[in-house]
Amino acid sequence: MSDVRVFDEPATDNRLDDMKQGVLGKPLDRPDGPVKVAGAAPYAAEYDLGECVEGVLVTAPFARGQITAIDKASVLDMPGVIAVLDDPRMITRPAQGTAGEAPKQKPGQVDYFGQPIALVVAETFEQARDAAKHLAFEYDADDNSEIPFDPATAETEESDGATRKGDLAKAMSDAAHSVDLIFTTEGHNSAAMEPHAAMAEWDGQKLTVHAALQMLNYNHGELADAVGLPTEQVRILARYVGGGFGSKLGVSPETVAASLAAMELGRTVRVVMSRQQVFQDVVRRSETKQRLRLAAGADGRLIGLGHEARTSNLPGEGSAEPVVQATAYLYPGENRVLAVENATVHRMTAGSVRAPGEAVGMQCLEAAMDELAEAMDIDPIELRLRNIPDEHPGDGKPYSSRRYAECMREGAKAFGWDSGNTSGVWTDGPRKPRQQREGDWWIGTGMAGATRIHLVGRAEARVTLKADGTALVETDMTDIGTGTYAILNQMAGEMLGLPAEKVLVDLGDTDHPYGPGSGGSWGASSSGSAVYQTCDMIRDDIARKVNADAATLEFKDGMVRWPEGEKSLVDIMGGEDIVHQVRFKPGKAFEDYATASYGAFFAEVAVNRWTGETRVRRMTGAFGFGRVLNPKTARSQCIGGMVWCIGSALTEALHFDPVDGHLVNCDLAEYHVPVHRDVPHMDVLLVEERDAHGSPIQAKGAGELGLCGGAGAIANAIYNACGVRMHDFPMTPDRVM
Ligand code: MOS
Repeated sequence: MSDVRVFDEPATDNRLDDMKQGVLGKPLDRPDGPVKVAGAAPYAAEYDLGECVEGVLVTAPFARGQITAIDKASVLDMPGVIAVLDDPRMITRPAQGTAGEAPKQKPGQVDYFGQPIALVVAETFEQARDAAKHLAFEYDADDNSEIPFDPATAETEESDGATRKGDLAKAMSDAAHSVDLIFTTEGHNSAAMEPHAAMAEWDGQKLTVHAALQMLNYNHGELADAVGLPTEQVRILARYVGGGFGSKLGVSPETVAASLAAMELGRTVRVVMSRQQVFQDVVRRSETKQRLRLAAGADGRLIGLGHEARTSNLPGEGSAEPVVQATAYLYPGENRVLAVENATVHRMTAGSVRAPGEAVGMQCLEAAMDELAEAMDIDPIELRLRNIPDEHPGDGKPYSSRRYAECMREGAKAFGWDSGNTSGVWTDGPRKPRQQREGDWWIGTGMAGATRIHLVGRAEARVTLKADGTALVETDMTDIGTGTYAILNQMAGEMLGLPAEKVLVDLGDTDHPYGPGSGGSWGASSSGSAVYQTCDMIRDDIARKVNADAATLEFKDGMVRWPEGEKSLVDIMGGEDIVHQVRFKPGKAFEDYATASYGAFFAEVAVNRWTGETRVRRMTGAFGFGRVLNPKTARSQCIGGMVWCIGSALTEALHFDPVDGHLVNCDLAEYHVPVHRDVPHMDVLLVEERDAHGSPIQAKGAGELGLCGGAGAIANAIYNACGVRMHDFPMTPDRVM
């Protein structure tokens, strides 16, 4: 039986809190953990599919122009070489998942340095790589001096959805306290551990592709489109994905290339991007330039709020990093300007990188709030507490649950936040920089608010309660390292009264029902709701079978109890399976509310007085995102986000050559993500709540919240340590000096 459930009524059912199995909300270990640690979990390139040939992408050594000829003969005689493919369908920009369709390019058209132009297929990887290096081709490249590379001077277009209300300039001049600041952030790469990779098989009828992707339902249509097959003839599998962070939302060139090669050659083809290709060819986060204007009355309440950003993307790409997304609902101010202008540059496509918008928008907004608090001589937490709006300042929607104040208060307590100073002695005075030094190191603390919009999307799941008393959950939802296998196991286990080992969760297969995919922090609440509602149908069936009211049933360890009796599930099933499938869809309960997840960051840093080196010494994050399905996986998501805050604050930056537009630092040696040595102890507090508008299971998004603002806390701590206000991220030693 299948059913469609639209989320129109707020979720007031708190059954999940009182269920007997008691597995939901508990720190269940990830069922996929041991297989991954043992190296037994196959990632996209690791399937044993028998005989398999290897493809290596050839990329353009220029930024804009036209490939005019590819001399296939130049490599066809090389050892092991099977074919050179230059199918124009392969030479596409990466798709951007939810961000929208990439514009079609002319055959052979090159728009950025490093764009794939051909695929060389050989018997072994080494042979393919060697031939790829030697492939001869001709091209007409445009004169670099005529290509816009620099976002600061390139032409811009304003993104849709700008807000202009009241008179911000007047609010700024009327304000008792104000700041007007320019910040910059650099481009980022998702840098997932698993490179983009695909293995494709073609049997003449059906294309089967093992790929590293986040959103299979969407990727299914994209790939079918790209290779010209109906979706029924395409199957994508992504059982295990080694991180995505946005870079695997859309199908990227290696998956299309492997598929087209398999179809043309009738062989199984594997294409794995090199780390350099991952940096050159998958979506980047745009660099930003942000102007922040904050105008407050004498009472500390904002009367004016301006957040204007400049981002960049390739010509024809409609989407821009939504830098002001959180600013729109986080703080009040009747006089508002919120706008993003997008510059057209020839760099690889800009798209979603973990927490698109908030990640870089919040870190600048929250650094500006720190300066405003200083100008007013009040504690930065106090400033934020005075600026929690009653309703969405833009569209007037009511807020759903919002534990922003609680996160700041509880986080402050856990961190030992001292409004007076950092020495641990309460002085009741304003915080001042340069109050604490240990030898060569200035010590300081800083805080920042966190928020990320909450999204929930269509999700389907099929649950089979089997006659043997085990359950099978099937959906094409993915687990990109986030904990989906665990939380869907817990949801089914809780609803059906089964311990973890009796529930099998089968993900990452487009033959399964439509999952929401892993993106935008919507995965857990959306797919969790689909499993919850599907299991609810099974509970109703069980109730009918035992002639009891479903509301009175208790499920635990394979037993069902009701006021008049008890029976094992196996006995009730009587040799037959029960199968149900629900399609969950967001509705009015969600759409009519301003729903978001909230939090607060606290950081302590040491800044070397001679070198400007900054070490983060500890961090605390307090987060409220509705029901916590699994505190272990949720906490891991938060810690992961906070590690990204360190990268965004101190080290991560894409550098482009101003002369020919190539990405200079395209590997993990040159693009500096925080390593173990850079990451101190991190405390995560989960400030629980039930959000009736977040989803039917009262959960909201968690995956991206941990990096929405935390780099600002680190910047504020640097100022508190050494007295230097900086506005350019990352705050590398040369800038801190
Ligand atoms: Mo996320 S950047 O939507 O994977």
